[in-house]
Amino acid sequence: MMQLLGLSYHLRTFGCQMNQHDSERVAGMLDSLGALPVQKAEEADIVVFLTCCVREAADVRVLGQVASLKNMPTPTGGKRLIAVGGCLAQRDGVKIVEQVPHIDIVFGTYNVASLPSLIEAALAGQGAQVEVLEQNQALSTVLPTTELPSRREQFWHAWLPIMTGCNNYCSYCIVPYVRGREISRPFDEILREVDTLLSDGVIEITLLGQNVNSFGRDLYGETRFAELLRRIGDSGIQRLRFVTSHPKDLSLETIEAFAETKAVMPHLQLPVQSGSNRILAAMNRSYTVEQYLALVDAVRQAAAAAGKGDGSYQGAVALSTDIIVGFPGETETDFQATCDLAKAVGFAQAFTFIYSRRAGTPAAELVDDTPAEVIQDRFQRLVAAVQQSAWQQNQLEAGRVNQVLVEGVSKRDPLMLAGRSEKNTTVHAPLPAGSSADEFVGRVLPMRIDTAKTWYLQGELI
Ligand code: SAH
Ligand code: SF4
Ligand code: F3S
Repeated sequence: MMQLLGLSYHLRTFGCQMNQHDSERVAGMLDSLGALPVQKAEEADIVVFLTCCVREAADVRVLGQVASLKNMPTPTGGKRLIAVGGCLAQRDGVKIVEQVPHIDIVFGTYNVASLPSLIEAALAGQGAQVEVLEQNQALSTVLPTTELPSRREQFWHAWLPIMTGCNNYCSYCIVPYVRGREISRPFDEILREVDTLLSDGVIEITLLGQNVNSFGRDLYGETRFAELLRRIGDSGIQRLRFVTSHPKDLSLETIEAFAETKAVMPHLQLPVQSGSNRILAAMNRSYTVEQYLALVDAVRQAAAAAGKGDGSYQGAVALSTDIIVGFPGETETDFQATCDLAKAVGFAQAFTFIYSRRAGTPAAELVDDTPAEVIQDRFQRLVAAVQQSAWQQNQLEAGRVNQVLVEGVSKRDPLMLAGRSEKNTTVHAPLPAGSSADEFVGRVLPMRIDTAKTWYLQGELI
């Protein structure tokens, strides 16, 4: 096997947790070949981009960064190798090299395992290397990325992909085209990985999939996500989370497993996208507002009955969501319905996006004539509504004790510990005098909440 001893590398990761996880695999591979990770791209001999193309802004940012790096010398004066992977690479392949010269390597989402050999060829002066397989080719020829070494970002947390791809084809979304059809990993493989993570000292696992609720359908002919939650819950892991749940596949069985499995944290990310039935239909989301609200009610009832969170209907579980503003044809009435829904649910958090046309998706063919200023104005109003509901949800925690997994110190104040509550809210607490943050990082500690702000809670270690 080739060695990269003496070479430094830097990773830039964009987009969702799928890329986050792939980047841990890339780091694991490069580490095992002897390369050294560095904090800054300017100091690296090899720069690897893991790109996203879910919205237009994501494409533009990556290509801008690549371009600005190409003229900067490396510390040793040699030529810097630039590799572009991830979803943009999968979508555009060789076109990327044509558009942005000086990219040495393009590798698709099924080609992560090939990166070392592509680097070797590029270092040997064999010119630009492009390897982008389609899913049907990839299945039989490539080592699944899940069997590669991995270097986790934090010792206490692990991302665990339970499936890749997406079968849903929401009309606006590029993901099914760049990540392929759903492929679940078998139970025993996942459970074995859980055991390894446990023996490595991991205390929080986040299961990953574009639609975890349909886990197992391709393998076992029926979804078995509820069973997976219960079985991982029995492993002894302290905290279990998962993203993302598609509302149309959130079964009663899964809601019960979510509520009853103690290790599963009282937080559910349930993307709604819109509060208008007309727009939901045009998005091909396969549920109505009424069905969504009924799910939220079922989740809250089950979680409260199982004593999750504070055990109350509103405080048993924190709900978060994704919302798109300005989908083609969205009227003021549709938009109002979205704000009404956000208010009715009381989201603890919402990721809000302005619709971005993605060529090749069905929505790209729709008439899209809402003026940009109108969309911008709606976006601001939605953000304000979401802030209001996040603030309200956080007030429920004031005076309560939260179990907080300490992640480090606050970006703005090195004397302030920062971590995540069970509901996934950021919590700050002063670092006790005379101690170092390292003593607390990676531990779950009780904190009493004094003040609740919009995006974080302020508390004190008990
Ligand atoms: N599989 C997940 C999320 C995948 S992408 C799910 O369905 O919930 C994350 C979010 O990006 C989506 O939930 C959606 O809100 C947003 N998104 C996807 N495509 C988009 C587009 N073309 N324009 C704007 N936002 C988009
Ligand atoms: Fe995209 Fe829809 Fe699949 Fe999520 S469920 S990845 S939004 S197609
Ligand atoms: Fe982006 Fe690819 Fe994830 S397009 S959102 S990085 S699956």
